[in-house]
Amino acid sequence: MVGKQFVALLGSPLLVAGFPHIAEMLEKQKMQERQVGVPALVPFPEFPGSPAHALYDKFDPGSQRVSTSGEHEFRAPGPGDIRGPCAGLNAAANHGYLPRDGIATAESVNTGLWEAFGLDKTATLFLQTATMFFDGDPISGRWSIGYHSDETNSLGLLGDLLGNQTGICAYGHLKTEADASITRGDWLAPEMNSNCASYPVFAQELLDLAKKRTGGNITPQVLAEHSYNRKQYSIANNPNYFSPPYAGVAFTFGAHMFAFELLANHSAEEPRGFLTPEVFESFFSYTRDENDQLVFTYGHERIPDNWYKRADDDAWTLSDILISTAQQCASYPSACQVGGNTGEVNSFSGVNVGDLSGGLINSVEDLSDPARMGCFIRQAIQADVPSFLDKVFNGATLNTLLGLVDTMLTPALQGLGACEGIPAGRSMFEYGSEYPGAKIVQEGPRNPYK
Ligand code: HEM
Ligand SMILES: *[C@@H]1O[C@H](CO)[C@@H](O)[C@H](O)[C@H]1NC(C)=O
Ligand SMILES: *[C@@H]1O[C@H](CO)[C@@H](O)[C@H](O)[C@H]1NC(C)=O
Repeated sequence: MVGKQFVALLGSPLLVAGFPHIAEMLEKQKMQERQVGVPALVPFPEFPGSPAHALYDKFDPGSQRVSTSGEHEFRAPGPGDIRGPCAGLNAAANHGYLPRDGIATAESVNTGLWEAFGLDKTATLFLQTATMFFDGDPISGRWSIGYHSDETNSLGLLGDLLGNQTGICAYGHLKTEADASITRGDWLAPEMNSNCASYPVFAQELLDLAKKRTGGNITPQVLAEHSYNRKQYSIANNPNYFSPPYAGVAFTFGAHMFAFELLANHSAEEPRGFLTPEVFESFFSYTRDENDQLVFTYGHERIPDNWYKRADDDAWTLSDILISTAQQCASYPSACQVGGNTGEVNSFSGVNVGDLSGGLINSVEDLSDPARMGCFIRQAIQADVPSFLDKVFNGATLNTLLGLVDTMLTPALQGLGACEGIPAGRSMFEYGSEYPGAKIVQEGPRNPYK
């Protein structure tokens, strides 16, 4: 049992010692009585991610101001241009930081998301590579930032389209996109079930919570609480709610953090960023009607004029994504569970993570350690990618792509940790039978309520 040894190593205080701020959170968590109705066992940090961000105190208007004119002027998507569930990718495409047609390429993702938002290359390399394997075409590196597009397909020797990629929403469900998003719907829910579009009722809930907690501005703590609320809502309203390790536990929460860490404005007084409701609404494609109610327009996400991104030397990195996701698990352990409803509302049942991860993770508390979180995500992606590829591609193309897993995907996962000697995880979709929401279906009728 190679795995056992590794687990013993990870379980040692040494690893958590690398993250003293989380070790401290866990201590407090242990001391606190678990009270029903108090979701946060310990407060989610005011400044999540690496502790250095909490001390950042510089502001350089010249390099932080993001251009919204000339080649980066706002242009609404035209016919055939694709937009999807990601506020950041949509805004980047509307301002020419990504291709305006909505088909992402490796080059544009790596440079565009840095220029527009200060998302570090450790993160974009990982996200770009994982997303092209899950939702796009690993041969050309292209993927759609919304629903399926024929534009992402490579041509085979005979000029045939190779495979039928999903893009990141609709049938891309559970690969990168998952339930209980900030404002998007759950794809298999009875109502409000577009996983590409944003719903004003969820956006309003976020704004109301911010008003209650801070007087108006949206903070990481507000977003962490909103994420918990959205998962509770899905459990209570979506019989098919399901949360797999990567798309559900890590990615959905990662997107909640992006909403502050990458969309907040910056100034000399607020070098760590501040996110007003107005800036949030612009980035999420909301306007107000004559009664001051939120109105969503599909795909018109906009970088506000005179907006300052985070500083280059304070970039948001892949480690920050892992650390903040681990911090979520310390504060809101129930929101960090892998599992779902079993066909009825309020029937949430957790997957045995010890079994899923071959003993790497045995409880939610283990996931409060960023190093273990990284290896858990890495294991999940490696276990799931071959089964996703198998559904999209076939024949010689499939073999070529399975070969690329070793040469292209595995190196891009290094940022999650070397994770030497960890046991192979099992694919999430082996657990499908108990969870109606856990099936991967590529086309045809999917939502039972439509
Ligand atoms: C290659 C990079 C990226 C990929 C593949 C990606 C993909 C996605 C996906 C699939 C979702 C839906 C998640 C869910 O179902 O909960 C999402 C949501 C989101 N993303 Fe991204 N994203 C990327 C980069 C960014 C960047 C750079 C930003 C901010 C500047 C951003 C901000 C957001 C936000 C705020 C949401 C939540 C939207 C909502 O729920 O209403 N993302 N992204
Ligand atoms: C490809 O998949 C999409 C859904 O992602 C579906 O609408 C389309 O019909 C499929 N095309 C082919 C050629 O199978
Ligand atoms: C961003 O902050 C700066 C400094 O406070 C301010 O001048 C600017 O108007 C803000 N931008 C937006 C879009 O709110």
